[in-house]
Amino acid sequence: MTTPLDFRSDTVTTPTPAMYDAMRSAPLGDDVLGHDPTVQRLEDETAALLGKPAALFFPSGTMANQAAVRAHTHEGGEILLGLKSHIFNFEVGGVGLHARVQTNTVTEREGYLHWEDLEPRIRQETAHSPATQLICLENTHNLLGGRLFPIEEMRKIADGAARYGLSVHLDGARLFNAAIASGIPAKEYAACATTVMTCLSKGLCSPVGSMLAGPEELIVRARRIRKAFGGGLRQAGILAACGLVSIHEMIDRLAEDHANARRLVAGLNASGLVVPLDLATVQTNILVAELAPGIADPATVPDFLAERGLLVTSFPPRSIRLCTHKDVDATSVEAAIDILTNAAVSLGVTPVSV
Ligand SMILES: Cc1ncc(COP(=O)(O)O)c(C=O)c1O
Repeated sequence: MTTPLDFRSDTVTTPTPAMYDAMRSAPLGDDVLGHDPTVQRLEDETAALLGKPAALFFPSGTMANQAAVRAHTHEGGEILLGLKSHIFNFEVGGVGLHARVQTNTVTEREGYLHWEDLEPRIRQETAHSPATQLICLENTHNLLGGRLFPIEEMRKIADGAARYGLSVHLDGARLFNAAIASGIPAKEYAACATTVMTCLSKGLCSPVGSMLAGPEELIVRARRIRKAFGGGLRQAGILAACGLVSIHEMIDRLAEDHANARRLVAGLNASGLVVPLDLATVQTNILVAELAPGIADPATVPDFLAERGLLVTSFPPRSIRLCTHKDVDATSVEAAIDILTNAAVSLGVTPVSV
């Protein structure tokens, strides 16, 4: 059987040969004791790349987001975040468990949060209400199809939050996709937030690893929280070695993923399988598309495509997500478009000319 084309996520990427080489030769130590030179190098270089005083290596983006929320907040407080955010939707309600704060969700418009929607939701502590303690942003936005957060709006939020004495955490799992697509350095986005999380294990192809960057004092707290979560890793330099390859060699090539996503969306739209996506909204490497109204049983479509050799993610009730990444090149995109087009015909939906 041939290997399926895996467009489910950029998390499926495999390490590069340079990463295997780096793992073999990385100087190692016990990072829980603070003695792993490769982890320290990755932390220092990431902090510099993001323009923050310090950074900390984490096993996952979820753990780094959770540690950040806990480091910023006190129990009984509240965080403001997007209704479609990863922290709200895909982190198992962790902030209630780990930080003991409640979530106050604000609806994104045009793929991002707006200060004018956030400001009225900020609350002061009273005998009846919790105090807002933190605002969480996401760039690029996963559930909303890899959309870019406009830097002007991020700056507006940063300024507004500062007026209220609030911290901002940026879930920048795909911050380097944003930087490459917009031409705005990751550092400038990071400057709009107190802390920023970024993943090495998505488009940047490391097998494991995410970074949290921010002020020294918060990173010291986050290190203790990471230990409490069971996330202190001993010879973690073996993973950090891949992370260094990620930040040295894998950022610029994200442009290829974005070009492939644009090719894919043109084919997907033409197939008739989905409600056509506005090309202008496909800004990075993620497509989230609603299946055409003619498809009676949308839940079966991912399996139907998988049987034909194409893996996609189901976003219920009616959407599918496709991500481009290093392990699906332009030829894979053409093959995926063929499968999508044939599937549309088999499912009885009409291709449209776009
Ligand atoms: C926007 C966003 N934040 C955080 C995460 C969590 O990263 P991890 O899978 O490493 O826990 C993801 C993962 O897909 C994500 O898309």
